[in-house]
Amino acid sequence: MSREAAPAPPGSRAPPPITAPHSRPRIGAGPKIVMLAAYDHPAARILDAAGVDILLVGDSLGNNVLGYDSTLPVTMEEMLHHTRAVRRGTRHALLVADMPYMSFQTGRRDALRNAGRFLKEGGAAAVKVEGGRKRASLVRSLLDAEIPVMGHVGLTPQSVNVMGGYRVQGKRLDEARALVEDAVALEEAGVFAIVLEGVPEGVGRAVTEAVGVPTVGIGAGRFCDGQVLVFHDLVGLSEGPLPRFARRYADLDLAIASAARRFGDDVRAGAFPSESEVYTAPQPFGPKAGSGAR
Ligand code: KIV
Repeated sequence: MSREAAPAPPGSRAPPPITAPHSRPRIGAGPKIVMLAAYDHPAARILDAAGVDILLVGDSLGNNVLGYDSTLPVTMEEMLHHTRAVRRGTRHALLVADMPYMSFQTGRRDALRNAGRFLKEGGAAAVKVEGGRKRASLVRSLLDAEIPVMGHVGLTPQSVNVMGGYRVQGKRLDEARALVEDAVALEEAGVFAIVLEGVPEGVGRAVTEAVGVPTVGIGAGRFCDGQVLVFHDLVGLSEGPLPRFARRYADLDLAIASAARRFGDDVRAGAFPSESEVYTAPQPFGPKAGSGAR
């Protein structure tokens, strides 16, 4: 990633947008990469202004926003709809769109068309593709079409049925070696960064040391070049217990429930709206003295 590539508009003091150049320098020496999965305009606006480096419109949209019980049902149209919303709220962060299940597994033409739609119609600057070695050739094709690609290895949720559940990957030595080989193959194919999900910390470290592109971990330990969390986990909007790797930085669920209860109490008590919250007009439509209108 680079902050140099796109200059700020003349007269603007805003930092330039972050891009994913083909030179793929490792950021390791500098601050760690901060990435969040977000799905709508207000979240994007707030997170972008807070200095997040990468906003990912993840296919976790399915679990966190659309009420599906996995990422598998998420469609291209749903992803595009949310990518456009996030685009409109993003000025600085690198916007990455996640290729949903069956948008690329059905063949190169589909993959190119769908990835192209994310850049052309969604305003994304890059796409993310789940999978290791077996995606290397696809990554090359996407780069040939000028589409920067972020890899994703380890616990890849689109593979839930072949993994036998959402299990930490790479616990056995042969699996850990295979993961390192996956990451190296993706780097050789040209990805600009790799998401590393659900692996033991030692494997996260081994992969990070084996590749020259930045790794961004989620449940992959402390040695990755960056960390990614899902917005709904970060702010306390997700349902059920948090996974071990997630940290809750706010309790928006409690704040929202409290706001809704207080609004309900005020409406039922006739305390909302108050006089200062209504529009007025000259008589005969003005307020009647002492009306306590309902
Ligand atoms: O869909 C998603 O949110 C993701 C992140 C967990 C990396 O892929």
